[in-house]
Formats: sequence, structure tokens, C-alpha cells
Amino acid sequence: MSVDDLKQPSQQQRTGPLRIAVLVSGNGSNLQVLIDAIQAGALPIEVVGVISNRDDAYAITRAQQAHIPVAVLSHTDSGKRMGIKTFETHASAQLVAWQPDLIILAGFMRVLSAAFINNSTATMINLHPALLPAYKGLNTHQRVIQAGERYHGCSIHVVTAELDAGQVLTQALLNVNPKDTADRLQTQVQSMEHQLLPWTVLLLAKGILPLNTNKISAEAKSYLPTLPLRLFLES
Ligand code: GRF
Repeated sequence: MSVDDLKQPSQQQRTGPLRIAVLVSGNGSNLQVLIDAIQAGALPIEVVGVISNRDDAYAITRAQQAHIPVAVLSHTDSGKRMGIKTFETHASAQLVAWQPDLIILAGFMRVLSAAFINNSTATMINLHPALLPAYKGLNTHQRVIQAGERYHGCSIHVVTAELDAGQVLTQALLNVNPKDTADRLQTQVQSMEHQLLPWTVLLLAKGILPLNTNKISAEAKSYLPTLPLRLFLES
């Protein structure tokens, strides 16, 4: 078996940088980390486009400053709500045009339909502010404190039709201190995300983590590390 047997077909054929599309809804600090890493020569990727479902997302400005194409598919238009089906139709057309190898949901706050996820031509990954499979959904920091957890962190997982339930690829962990507040945890977890995301994308771009775990043979899987890979970061 060669190293190439462990790579998925698109990695064997690809010659240029990994093409990435990023879906955002807000500040875009995770998008910025990717942009900065590319500009520093630390990541062999190209952000081929950004889709925002909010026209007031600061992520749009970040993308424009880096000369990345942006599609704003606002969830409201003149006070009228854009349904998820309409959003997905526009988003699909945009993604077909950009041809990404990987789609990253980085602070993207709309729930996508099973049809959109299952028909995606590229693997989708999501950044989640908790140690999945624990604490799926929203308000993770508050719920972690209320439960008296000793550990918290963030996860990057493959997006599947079931919310926050796909294969977890990587996690970063921190200790929860008795005096921590939800706000403090949020700040700490966000700064961990800024390390976890470029590290994970680098592993995907290099073929160390598979872009499509389903396409790896059982034999090849036995040569791969057990997922998720974990980083423990001191707070
Ligand atoms: C992140 O904390 C992520 O965990 C959550 O949304 C936040 C996005 O932050 N889903 P940013 O827009 O990348 O700054």
C-alpha cells in the first residue's frame, strides 16, 4: 500500500491548492484566520468564494479586502424572509460555478436541508463550539457551565443531514475553571477555533485527514489515526 492509497480520488487528481468555499453569517474571524494563513504562505488552499446569508456580516468586508468573490444571499430582502429552499437554490448555483473541493461552514447560522447537504459535490465541514457529540445546538457555553463540566472546547465535523452529528474530525479541549462565565468561555473557545481551523484545513489539504471518510477502504482505514484528532490547549 502506498500513501496515495490513503488519499481520496480528488486528492490524487488535484494538482493546485485545495479550493475552499466558506459560508458565513457574522463576524468572520475564522474566515480571517484562513485568509491570514494563506497570505503567510502557511496553507496550500485558495478561498474561491464566500457566501453570506446576512448582508450586514463583517465577514463580507473581510472577504472583499482579500479580493475573494462574495455572494450575499440575505435571509431577508426588503423585510421579506428568503426561504431556505430559495437560499439553497442560489447557493448551489454559486457553488457549481466556484467548484470547491471543500465547503466550510464558519459561523454559518442557517440550518441547511438534507437535500442540499446530500447533493453537495464537495464535503462540508462545520465549526461547532463544544466537544461533540456533547452539547449539540446553541448556547453551548452556558449549558457547559450549568452542567458543571470540567472540559469544554470546539469540534470540526463533517456536515450531515442530522444536526451536529457527522464524523468529528478534530477537537481542541480546555479546562473549565469554577469561576468561568459563559462570556469568558466563548472568548477562550473562539481563540481555540482560530488554531483548530487552520490546523484541520492543513491536514485535509495535505491528505493526512481524508476529505471523504466513506470512500476510504477498510484496509486503508486501519492505517489512519482514530478520529477525532485532539489538541489540548492550556487556557
Ligand atoms: C464561532 O464561534 C463558531 O463556533 C460559531 O460561530 C462563531 C463564528 O465566529 N458557530 P466568526 O464569525 O468566525 O467570528
